[in-house]
Amino acid sequence: MKILVTGGTGFIGSHTVVELQKEGFDVVIVDNLSNSQKWILDAVADISGVKPEFEQFDLADQKLTADFFSRHNDIVGIIHFAAYKAVGESVAKPLLYYRNNLVSLLNILEGMMVHNIPNLVFSSSCTVYGQPDELPVSEKAPIKKAESPYGNTKQISEEIIADTLASSNLKAIALRYFNPIGAHESAKIGELPLGVPNNLVPYITQTAIGIRQELSVFGNDYNTHDGTPIRDYIHVVDLAKAHVIAVKRMIEKQMKNNFEVFNLGTGIGYSVLDVINSFEKVTGIKLPYKIVDRRAGDVEKVWANPAWSNTELGWKAERSLDEMMDSAWKWENYYAKKNNITTKKR
Ligand code: UFG
Repeated sequence: MKILVTGGTGFIGSHTVVELQKEGFDVVIVDNLSNSQKWILDAVADISGVKPEFEQFDLADQKLTADFFSRHNDIVGIIHFAAYKAVGESVAKPLLYYRNNLVSLLNILEGMMVHNIPNLVFSSSCTVYGQPDELPVSEKAPIKKAESPYGNTKQISEEIIADTLASSNLKAIALRYFNPIGAHESAKIGELPLGVPNNLVPYITQTAIGIRQELSVFGNDYNTHDGTPIRDYIHVVDLAKAHVIAVKRMIEKQMKNNFEVFNLGTGIGYSVLDVINSFEKVTGIKLPYKIVDRRAGDVEKVWANPAWSNTELGWKAERSLDEMMDSAWKWENYYAKKNNITTKKR
């Protein structure tokens, strides 16, 4: 059975392709490589023994997407990762985000309608909850006004999917990710940010390896145990496995209704300083960091109630924060060695 994985050379996409292949699925990846690299296909093949089929084009291009679907009549389901995801950039370039993230979804849904592909797994985000009134946050929590155009594209995408499903035979599962970090145990795939990382863990590993001078911790005056913001960090391999479970749930017709939503988190919140401490403990490296002002748009604390995912999907995040740090660090070292990077700026 063939699954289309859009954005399959990206961070979460590549880990999911490996897990799909392990479970016997065939995979075709579509990616425009705007934020990923083609050699990831070889790395995936190295891990799984199978090089996934690959086409490079932009899913926001209606004609190319329609043409792709008319050439592939053996796809049974789609996991749609391909999207821009930098919160700050989305504030600076909202139209870029709306066009890319929404138009590509429209083109995919049209392809599903025309070619009778019933199953969609959609990459959503805990950003749809904003700063929740109650913690841990469950899927029943109200959707808050988005903090950024990026977050808004996730909210609008869920609405577009719900509206499309209401008038068709399509089915969808939206997976709301908390903070995916870590890397594959082989260290052959991982997070590969272009330029200066926005996210905490790649910034930590790049600082430790000498590419960045020091980490800035954005604020220590929040109402948390050590003053730094709290997130629910989840290992990318745990996240990838949930996608395979979701695909099987759809194919095996186990869904309770035609649009389901699941939180993908561990249920445990860690502060920025907790993450740094875990990194230092696991690696034995003292991380240079300084406390600076808060970052605009950051919520104070958010972590998941994963009970619905645990019981309904039969999925549970298994890997600890220490394992997340250890795998992220091994990946950073593997990548540095592979590219002969020492303190050279990326
Ligand atoms: N942080 C720092 N220094 C850095 C980078 C981050 O202190 O250099 C802090 C942030 O202030 C925050 C925490 O580390 O408290 C995590 O920040 P990330 O940027 O790694 O992650 P976010 O929680 O801001 O964002 C992530 C995803 C988004 C998603 C969002 C939903 O990157 O795609 O979660 O909350 F929308």
